[in-house]
Amino acid sequence: MSRAVAPWSIEAAQRVLAQVDEPGPVLVALQSLQSQFGYVHADAVALVAERLNVSRADVYGVLTFYSDLRTTPAAEVEVRICLGEACQAVGARALLADAREQLAPDDDVSRVFCMGNCALGPTAVVNGRLLGRASVASVRAAVDGRPT
Ligand code: FES
Repeated sequence: MSRAVAPWSIEAAQRVLAQVDEPGPVLVALQSLQSQFGYVHADAVALVAERLNVSRADVYGVLTFYSDLRTTPAAEVEVRICLGEACQAVGARALLADAREQLAPDDDVSRVFCMGNCALGPTAVVNGRLLGRASVASVRAAVDGRPT
């Protein structure tokens, strides 16, 4: 189950940035670009800096600080497994290892830290869908678009 995103182009990115008028503009601009294209293209750093009148270093700093912001296109399947303390206490490390071993090699399986779902750990997110008490079976079901 993949997410629909638009192909990257400077013109499309400029249209996205023209609509950014919320507070916290650098992060909002980068989130808007990622929402539109699925990632933040390297050329977008200069566009955002120019649009918001900040340095490229400022934009790059925000882009590389937040792990939710991507600088490359996402894999068709993106699985994130929480390795926060509460999730580790209920088997998240084993879930991460098993998921990396059992899911397709081109699936993107990565770790995150606390998604605010601690009481229902281990927590996983599959293409934006939050799973509580996650197992390899429930992650696989979510990857396949089946009920978990
Ligand atoms: S520690 Fe995993 S959701 Fe909080």
